[in-house]
Amino acid sequence: MQIEGTTALCHTPVKTIEWVGDAGGAARIIDQTLLPGELRYLDITDVAAMWEAIKILRVRGAPAIGIAAAFGVYLAVRYASLNDAVSFLAEVDAAAAYLATSRPTAVNLFWALKRIQRLACDAASLDLPAIKATLLAEAIAMIAEDNAVCRAIGAYGAALLTPRTKGGVCNILTHCNAGGLATAQWGTALAPVYVAAEQGRSLHVFADETRPLLQGSRLTAWELQQAGIPVTVITDNMAATVMSKGRVDAVIVGTDRVAANGDVANKIGTFGVAILAREFGIPFYVAAPLSSIDMELVSGELIPIEERKPEEVTDGFGRRTAPANVQVFNPAFDVTPNKYVTALITEKGIARPPYTESLRHLMQPG
Ligand code: MRU
Repeated sequence: MQIEGTTALCHTPVKTIEWVGDAGGAARIIDQTLLPGELRYLDITDVAAMWEAIKILRVRGAPAIGIAAAFGVYLAVRYASLNDAVSFLAEVDAAAAYLATSRPTAVNLFWALKRIQRLACDAASLDLPAIKATLLAEAIAMIAEDNAVCRAIGAYGAALLTPRTKGGVCNILTHCNAGGLATAQWGTALAPVYVAAEQGRSLHVFADETRPLLQGSRLTAWELQQAGIPVTVITDNMAATVMSKGRVDAVIVGTDRVAANGDVANKIGTFGVAILAREFGIPFYVAAPLSSIDMELVSGELIPIEERKPEEVTDGFGRRTAPANVQVFNPAFDVTPNKYVTALITEKGIARPPYTESLRHLMQPG
């Protein structure tokens, strides 16, 4: 197998989510269910459409889901014509409760909803148009914030990427998509790759295909190709082989929720990749914005794991690949115990074991 590295990045990733127009405008997302075949944008103008977009993964990835939900609340209340703040806040809470039912695992969803609800409360003394404008401004501000967070994660993470041979290609393996498509623009797990490429370093990425919904082959491979970064797709069961051949220098994945002890929920299959990385002495890094860290859960056992419909497993390739009526288990995420995690890469720096202490320190305000 001949692997080429790259040395240049003169590319800005596409915007996964943005607001278009004025207060009567729309949340514009990329419909990720159509990638890699088609890059189509979808303008979302009501909360039910936003709920559906999150549920069926038109917009997906923990940080992007959070931003989408924030826009969803605004879309739910923007035409509300109530004349008292208490009723308006009840509408905000109802919209947040509805959006919270879309996906259970990524804590960013709940983080963003709480943030918008708190803001609405704080703005309650304003008149209705001003409260609505505040909510929209906050959701829009989350995009710039997310970009800054991802760039910071990229800078800290790039410093960890060292090829086995000096001056050689650094080979990274990732699972699922924690790239620009999973955030507003730059990604978490892929941000270190983009920053290292900007620094002129030579990189190559193995993208696990990521059954059953193929976020690795459909999305990670697509966005890395767009960026001109060499990428090789492997099916999930090939990771052991590429690692055993010494072809992987580091694993970087994203996360949907990190518990206070450093246990990491991420796309189903991540746990297996972490065990393999340990077996082959490869560092296993998790890119984790602070908004993905849930200090309220003492361990990963408490993280709610989404289970999705059987057809994603049995009919994922445009034809049925399992017998009719067979039982299917389809958890969307798994939890990697903290002992397999070499380090968490956050926007405030690198957290290392013991995570109970390093995360408490990192999560202190200021
Ligand atoms: O089901 P998905 O596609 O939303 O799952 C996405 C992941 O598992 C990502 O790795 C995680 O959300 C981190 S995104 C920066």
